[in-house]
Amino acid sequence: MTTTRITTRVFRGTPRNLARLARVLQRGGLVGVPTETVYGLAADAGNARACRAIFRAKGRPASDPLIVHIHDWGQLESIAEPNAAAAMLAAAFWPGPLTLVLPKKSVIPPEVTAGLPSVAIRMPGHPLFRKLLKRCGRPLAAPSANPFGYVSPTTAAHVLSGLRGKIGAILDGGPAQIGLESTIVDVRDPARPRLLRPGAISRKQLERVLRCPVLTAAPGGGDRQRAQLAPGMLKRHYSPRTPVILHERIARTDFAHGAPDEAWLLMRQPRQVALPHVSWLDPQGELRGVARRLFGRLRELDAAGYRCIHVELARGGGLAEAINDRLRRAAARA
Ligand code: TXA
Ligand code: MG
Repeated sequence: MTTTRITTRVFRGTPRNLARLARVLQRGGLVGVPTETVYGLAADAGNARACRAIFRAKGRPASDPLIVHIHDWGQLESIAEPNAAAAMLAAAFWPGPLTLVLPKKSVIPPEVTAGLPSVAIRMPGHPLFRKLLKRCGRPLAAPSANPFGYVSPTTAAHVLSGLRGKIGAILDGGPAQIGLESTIVDVRDPARPRLLRPGAISRKQLERVLRCPVLTAAPGGGDRQRAQLAPGMLKRHYSPRTPVILHERIARTDFAHGAPDEAWLLMRQPRQVALPHVSWLDPQGELRGVARRLFGRLRELDAAGYRCIHVELARGGGLAEAINDRLRRAAARA
C-alpha cells in the first residue's frame, strides 16, 4: 500500500472554518477535533471507508473499537438501544467526559466497533466540537488523535506533531480542560453497570446517580470473554518512549542528589527546589490541575532525552484513580 503525505492545516474555530470542516467530514474526510478530555481524530461514523482511514492514520489495530460522538439524544437513538441507566447517566453528565457502551444498531458499520454488537457513545461538552457536530448533522467516530500507543494529545500542537502528513485538518480549540480520556461505563445490563475506564466522572458519581454498585471490568486479561468486555484496554498504552518509574511517595532525598539525566515528576511543588530535572504538575497538588497537565508534561519530558522519568502516584479517590490508571499504563513495559 502506498502512503501519500498530505499537508496538514490547523484551523481556528471561525464559522467559515467550521462550515468547511463539516463538509470535509460529510465527504468522508478526517479532522482532528478538540474535546474537553483529549483531542480526537474524527470521521463520519456511518461511513466505513472514512472510519478505516482513522485506523490507518493512527496505526491502530482494527480490533480496538472507536467512540462515537453525538450532538443530541436523538442521534443516540439512531445508532444504539438506550435503557433507563443510560438515560439517567446522560441526564446527569452529558454533555461531558462520560462514554456509555450500549447495544448498537446496524447503521454503525462493524469497522467502528471492531465487530462487537455494542457501541461506545459520548456527547462531548467542548463548544467548538459541539458546533461542528451540529453542522455535520451526523455522529462522528473519534479515538484519541495520537499514533496508536502514544500519549493522548491535549493540544492541537500535540495532534500536529503525531499526525502531520497523515491528516488534512485539525480544529484548534485550545488546551483540553480535563486532560484525561473519558470515563467509560458499560450499561448494557442496567442492573450491573461496569466501569471499563476510569476518568473525570468518578465511580462514586456514577453510583450516586444509578443507586447501585459500579464494578470494574479488569483490563488486560487474556481470556476471550474479557477481550469482548473491554476491547482495546491494553495494559501498555498512553506511553512515552522514555521508561517511566512509579513511586508511591517521592521524598526530597530521592531527587535532591539524583542523577541529572533522570527526571523527577512530582504531584505538587516542593519547597525551595530549583533543579532542572525536578518538576511538578500542580503548585498545590490539586488533582484537576494534575490531570490537565499530565500528558503535556510527559510529552515534554519524553522529548527532553532523560534516561528515565520517575513519577509520583496521585493520592486519594475520584480523579486520582484515573490519573494513576494512566500512569500505570505509561509505566507498563509489555
Ligand atoms: O475522552 C475520550 O474518550 C476520547 C475523546 C476523543 O472522546 N476518546 C478516546 O478514545 O479516548 P480511545 O482512543 O481511548 O478509544 C476508545 C476506547 C477503546 O480503546 C475501548 O477501550 C473503548 O473505548 N471502547 C470503544 N468501543 C467499545 C465497546 N463497544 N465496548 C467496550 N469498550 C469500547
Ligand atoms: Mg487512545
